[in-house]
Amino acid sequence: MHYFGYKKGGLYAEEVPVGKLTEAYGTPLFIYSYRTLRRHFLAYDKAFGKIPHIICYALKANPNSAIIRTFASHGGGADIVSGGELYRALKAGVDPRKIVYAGVGKTVEEIRFALSKGILMFNMESDQELIEINRVASLMKKKAPVALRVNPDIDPKTHPYISTGMKEHKFGVPIEDALDFYMQAKKLKNLEIVGIHAHIGSQITEVTPFVDALNSIILLIKGLGENGINVRYLDIGGGLGIRYVSEEPPMPSDLASELIPILRDMSVTVIIEPGRSLVGNAGIFVTKVIYTKNGEGKEFIIVDGAMNDLIRPTLYGAFHNIIPVRKNRRKKILADIVGPICESGDFLGKARNLPRPERGELLAVMSSGAYGFSMSSNYNSRPRAAEVLVNGERHYLIKKRENLNDLIRGESIPGFL
Ligand code: LLP
Repeated sequence: MHYFGYKKGGLYAEEVPVGKLTEAYGTPLFIYSYRTLRRHFLAYDKAFGKIPHIICYALKANPNSAIIRTFASHGGGADIVSGGELYRALKAGVDPRKIVYAGVGKTVEEIRFALSKGILMFNMESDQELIEINRVASLMKKKAPVALRVNPDIDPKTHPYISTGMKEHKFGVPIEDALDFYMQAKKLKNLEIVGIHAHIGSQITEVTPFVDALNSIILLIKGLGENGINVRYLDIGGGLGIRYVSEEPPMPSDLASELIPILRDMSVTVIIEPGRSLVGNAGIFVTKVIYTKNGEGKEFIIVDGAMNDLIRPTLYGAFHNIIPVRKNRRKKILADIVGPICESGDFLGKARNLPRPERGELLAVMSSGAYGFSMSSNYNSRPRAAEVLVNGERHYLIKKRENLNDLIRGESIPGFL
């Protein structure tokens, strides 16, 4: 559920006409709905309310400070994968004791940074990392709180690029080796084993893979207990899908009602790391038609937004609904919606049925709140879009549009040139 919809033929973000926002902030533009963000967060919080839990928002989905703050102010933590994300989380006011840190390539500097801030736990992904965290912690005369990211070898039945919990993936350690890893970690003086972690993939639209993964983790936890290793935190990762078109993903309450009966007797605090399901449908990407053009057997709608702003269609063949900001009764055409970038792969939508737009009209690319801006780039020297947060009738610029100067910031021309 989200707060974007038509009123009197025009698309609104909550109580504000999208056209008014583009007048104020220009295009292309990311627009987020505060009420949708809040609703999504509270849906998780309520669903898992019966058991001790922390919702650690996966920053990678959308790391804008205002978005992080939205969740932090409702009691949310953060799932981070870099020193940069740690910096953002802290700046936005996330309690370090609610920060979990995953990622296969944590550097010494990043480990030191996280230890100095007192994060909740490191989700370790290899034996070398385990030794490195212990070494850095010992230099700092600290004990590092750690969990092991295990790979339960469950097929989440999602796009191969965003599936992470199978044997062939670089993430985590195979669940059958986990006990050995824990025994090794137990021997290291500057590690404190506090948890266990698994994340099996993203845009998962069924509950079963989560249940299967949880069941094999619970078996492991029991085995650990028999070896004198007790975990306090069970981090089940993120990955719940959203509706882009006609998917029927489980709601947080569906997930919770399957998982809570399994978790109830476990005396652990459950950590959930949702990204997409919190922010995906809380954002749209609005772009302006520059030209239309007749191609071979189809038409092209050329817009001012492109793959550098929203790479999901290009990278994953992802489908995002594209709708006119102002409804009209013009005849529909079959068209590819493409950006100005010099790549054939630069498209936002292919073979779409849309009323023929006129130059200057606006199109909204739906479900763009997750992995949209966060995966954007300056390719073709295009300044990044602005981001706006709407709350009721109010709207706030939460990221300024980049300007031409931003494009060359930090560059220098050597004197010999
Ligand atoms: N936790 C870990 C350890 C993760 O790696 C991820 C996502 C999440 C949580 C959050 O997953 P979510 O709830 O958002 O599914 N760029 C891709 C998605 C990559 C997901 C990477 N990891 C896309 O645009 O579909």
